[in-house]
Amino acid sequence: MPEPSREAEFLGKVALVTGGGRGIGRAVVQAFAREGCQVAFCYRENAAAAQEVVEAVQAQGGSALALQADVADADQVRRLVSTVLEQYDRIDVLVNNAGSFPQQAVLEINDADWDAVLRSNLYSVFYCSREVLPVMMRLKQGAIINLVSVAGKRGSALHAHYAAAKGGVLALTRSLAKEAIPYNIRVNAVCPGRVVTGMLQGEWDGSLERWKKEAPIGRLADAVEIAEVILFLASQRASYIVGETVDVDGGWWMD
Ligand SMILES: NC(=O)c1ccc[n+]([C@@H]2O[C@H](COP(=O)([O-])OP(=O)(O)OC[C@H]3O[C@@H](n4cnc5c(N)ncnc54)[C@H](OP(=O)(O)O)[C@@H]3O)[C@@H](O)[C@H]2O)c1
Repeated sequence: MPEPSREAEFLGKVALVTGGGRGIGRAVVQAFAREGCQVAFCYRENAAAAQEVVEAVQAQGGSALALQADVADADQVRRLVSTVLEQYDRIDVLVNNAGSFPQQAVLEINDADWDAVLRSNLYSVFYCSREVLPVMMRLKQGAIINLVSVAGKRGSALHAHYAAAKGGVLALTRSLAKEAIPYNIRVNAVCPGRVVTGMLQGEWDGSLERWKKEAPIGRLADAVEIAEVILFLASQRASYIVGETVDVDGGWWMD
């Protein structure tokens, strides 16, 4: 197999990133755009943050398309994917990044809370993959990368709905990987430790110092450190990695 050229590999390719307006998703959009990829991303409500990402990408000489869509809603996902296809006529990479992380004791979670968290973290991955897979099958190539969490592997007090959803994403990742690999589509997951983003902001009171100590590396992750692994998994350098979950957690859960 010829040596993959990092510079050329993503030229002419299209990536769709969910939740690209802030946090890890924003770093993912910028990483793919830096490699010459056309990047479309969605956000749920923060249009100003999304516009900032578009401008940051343009400032680095790339191009990004921001689209409002709630990936917890199947119809909105259908519209999102069809808009991306109208614009670019292909999708080579899907990064299922969007998610929500509310803090609630299990007995405080009502039916609507449970439904909302499962929808935004798990159903979204299914909806987006279901729409994008036929496009990748037509191209006979593709990469899907799902964002999971330590909570999905080990459970998390005060986040039972989130943990259940992320555990579902882990199982979905492996199932999709098995169905998609005959079409040369690789599906993998990335499991970050604690990353400095808005998602954790609400939880920082008193937790920050403890979290730093829990990770042998002694600090939280920067979103860029997660994005670089996602870029790697989407690239030909990861051509033999299928159905895997890559931990990027500073040694937090090292066995
Ligand atoms: N941060 C961590 O420590 C950590 C650790 C493990 C796993 N993760 C996972 O990594 C992913 C990204 O986390 P993050 O920390 O970067 O989150 P974040 O800073 O809260 O950003 C989330 C992004 O997703 C978008 N989003 C949320 N729900 C959406 C929906 N239903 N439809 C469309 N867009 C939606 C948000 O849109 P708006 O800007 O419009 O609100 C925002 O752009 C999540 O799947 C999370 O579970 C994060």
